[in-house]
This record gives sequence, structure tokens and C-alpha cells, in this order.
Amino acid sequence: MFELPILTESELYENEIFDLPSPIAPQRKLYVETYGCQMNVNDSEIVKGVMNNSGYAITDKPDEADVILLNTCAVRDNAERKIHERLDHLKYYKKRNHDLVVGVLGCMAERLRSDLLEKKLVDVVVGPDEYRNVPELVGRAFTGEKGIAVKLSRVETYDDILPLRTDGISAWVSIMRGCDKFCTFCVVPFTRGRERSRTLDSVVNELKILRDSGFKETTLLGQNVNSYRDEQTSKDFADLLAACASSVPEMRIRYTTSHPQDMSDKLIETMAQYDNICKYVHLPVQSGSDRILKLMNRTYTVEHYLERMRKIKEVMPNCALSTDIIVGFPSETEEDNDATIELMQQVRYDGAYMYKYSPREKTKAWKMGDDVPDDVKTERLNRIIEKQRIVSGELNQLTLGTIEKVLVEGASKKNPTEWQGRTDSNKIVIFTHNEFGGYIVGDIIPVKINRANSATMFGDIVLN
Ligand code: SAH
Ligand code: SF4
Ligand code: F3S
Repeated sequence: MFELPILTESELYENEIFDLPSPIAPQRKLYVETYGCQMNVNDSEIVKGVMNNSGYAITDKPDEADVILLNTCAVRDNAERKIHERLDHLKYYKKRNHDLVVGVLGCMAERLRSDLLEKKLVDVVVGPDEYRNVPELVGRAFTGEKGIAVKLSRVETYDDILPLRTDGISAWVSIMRGCDKFCTFCVVPFTRGRERSRTLDSVVNELKILRDSGFKETTLLGQNVNSYRDEQTSKDFADLLAACASSVPEMRIRYTTSHPQDMSDKLIETMAQYDNICKYVHLPVQSGSDRILKLMNRTYTVEHYLERMRKIKEVMPNCALSTDIIVGFPSETEEDNDATIELMQQVRYDGAYMYKYSPREKTKAWKMGDDVPDDVKTERLNRIIEKQRIVSGELNQLTLGTIEKVLVEGASKKNPTEWQGRTDSNKIVIFTHNEFGGYIVGDIIPVKINRANSATMFGDIVLN
């Protein structure tokens, strides 16, 4: 049996001194890389907040990090493929630093769970509802113990955690988590669990903090924001939007994403009522065919959708519209695809996010079989992308000569002698700033549009 040696008092003293942690132990550094939707961007800020409270410094350089966390997406197969490639690449970082801890967070962590730990490189796997446990799991990983936490919660909203944001102009604020809609193609209800909302007060308080720290714009986030409900006060999403808009009148307020079934008159009227709620609605339609919408379990018809769009335009004629579309859903025919193009023709979206259907395990559509060949999906996708490019271009041409209120974001990426900003309707505007008298990043300034293509508008500042 191993027994401890009996030490003299001086030896004991020396030993104690020797055991004391070094007062100048360097702070461990965390690097987080984010994939997927804006909710993941905000979740990464929550994780940084949690880790910072536990003593980690945050770095934006992976090669100087002691901990690298990838916050991942599982919505389509190519999203996951990108993460596998990135993980392969992280091997080089681990070769250089054997003590490096690598973790996978987010929706792919939730979906693949312990399968990910089979990769030698991965030390921790944490799902979207377990971020409070990241410091403990990472701490153990430093002693060589791999760890996993992927339970979903019915209550976790991280209401009390202040996300650690990089200073900027625009902030993302999650107001709810999870999704109960179960569209048949979608993995999100499985990776994010059941719907639950933060309290109205906590959201409004966060917005005030953001305003006080210099943010000019906030986007309220949820998979389906119009299911928002403050359980204690029974306030709905329109109430929350109104409370936000009136509490921080100097900030622009946006939100995403809403579901066509629950796009209520009250919500549309609330948007119209406040100048600082941006006139921009992203309302994913997915398909223009009723038969496909039914198979997708989207719970609305094309007619209902178009009626909601008309209502939005009636109440807010200048409101910009965008959508998400999937091509090649199981059994989709040429006629179904034509119906989608017909719907695009009717609505005339300012923008659209368009995807090829990607079968996801566990979903109902998975069992329907992926029967549209990839080259047909590609051809249909190209067709709708081209359609959208033309419409976006035409709509942007209509803005020539108008004066838009632009929130200045900073130097243009392509040409640093120009500035870039966004209109209320979420369009990018590039403008010269040689006579940029006194304006700074974060100001909302009038810009006269003099040129536009399908993606960007160009203009000059209007001086008083
Ligand atoms: N909650 C949001 C969308 C979340 S996912 C909503 O309902 O609007 C973002 C978009 O990804 C979806 O709108 C859909 O167009 C697309 N998407 C989701 N699952 C997909 C899949 N299996 N294949 C292709 N696209 C998918
Ligand atoms: Fe997915 Fe549908 Fe929920 Fe959106 S509403 S996250 S598409 S299940
Ligand atoms: Fe992707 Fe999860 Fe968002 S699957 S789109 S990161 S909710």
C-alpha cells in the first residue's frame, strides 16, 4: 500500500510553498468559431460570457488559443461537411499545442452527440441548452477527460447571462429558443428542442444595456418569433416589439424569423406604428405549391401566404420583403417548381435565400425518400436564383433618385475610401465619404441613391 511520507515541519512548509499556484499563471485563452444562423452568433456570445466569467480571456486568433470551440449548424448536409473539414484542419493546431482543448457546440453537437467524441481530436461536445456547463467540461478536458452534455431543456433561456459581444453597431438578441413547428424537412426541432421564451422585461433590459454601450441596432431572434409569449404577463411578440421600440427609441429594431401562419394583423400594425421598427419582413415561404406545402407541414396555403403579403404592403407600402425557398423537396415536379416561380412573380421579393433540399435523419421527410436527382435540383435552383436576381435588380432600380436613411457601418469592404451602410429595408448602400463632414460610424444619414444592381445600391451623402 502507498503511504504518505511523514515530513518534518520545515519539509512540510517547503512542500506547501511548492504547491501554491503560481500567482502569475497566465490566463487561458478561448477562441470560438461560429457557423449557421444568427441564433448561433448570439449563442457564441453567451458561451463567451459564461467562459469569461470563469476566468478565460477571449481571443480572435485560433493559433494563440488554449481552447477552440466550433459552434456548429446541422440544417443541411453541406453545413455539417464544412465542420468536418474544419475539424480535420484543427489537427495542425493540436500538433503544435498538445494541451489544446477542442470542443464542438451547437446543433451538430446535439445531432451527432457521442459520435463526435470518437474523433480523437474532439474533447468536449455540448448541445445548445447546456452552455452553462462549458467551463466545467473544458476544465476537465485539461486533465485529459473527454466530456459531453447534450440534454435539451424546456426552460433554459440564458435569461440571466449577458452575452459577451464585440463592440459594434448591430447586436443580436435571442428572445426565445427552440421550435415546435416540425416542418417535415427540418432538423431544428430536434437540435434545439421545445419552444420557450424569455421574459419581456429581461429582453427590454438587455436592449437598454446595448443602447448605453453604443449599439445602434438590434435584431430580435427566434426560429419563429411570432410564437413568443411571456408566460407571466401573457404578452405576445407584437407587445414585445412595441415595448422594445418605445424603450430604446434611438435604436433600430429588426426581427427574424416569423412564420406565415402566425403573421398577425396586430404584429403588422405594430411594425407600422413605430418609426424605429425597420420596415423589412423576412417571411419564409419554402414553396409555391400547395401540395408541397402540405407535405412540408407548413400549415398554410399559397392563398393565405399571399393574403398576408398583401396586408403587409397595404399597411406598409415601402416594406421590403424576403423569403426562404427550398427546391427539390421529395416528389417535387416541374409544375410545383413553376408554381414557386409564379409566387415569386406575384410577391416580387427584394431578396431570397434559396436552397436545394437536403434530407435530414429523424425528420418525416427523410422517410419520403430523396427522389429529385441532384442535377434537377441544381437546374431548378439556378432557375429561381436567376428569377430573383432580375426582380431584385428591378426593385433596386426603382430607388434611383430617392433619399434613403442609411445606418453607417464602416468602410466598404471592396473600397476603403468608400463607406458602407444599410437602409431601413436592410439593403446595402455604398457611398463616397470625401465630404463626410462630422459623421461617424453608427450615425443614420441621408444618402441619395444614384446607381444600383441586384445586390447593392450606390449613392452620395446629402448635405444640408
Ligand atoms: N425557423 C426558420 C428557418 C430556420 S432554417 C423558418 O421557419 O423560417 C432556415 C432555412 O433553411 C429554412 O427556412 C429552409 O428554407 C432551409 N432549410 C431547413 N431545412 C432544410 C433542409 N433539410 N434542406 C434544405 N433547406 C432547409
Ligand atoms: Fe424548422 Fe419549420 Fe421550425 Fe423553421 S418553423 S425552424 S423551418 S421546423
Ligand atoms: Fe443551423 Fe441550428 Fe441555426 S441547425 S440554422 S445553427 S438553429
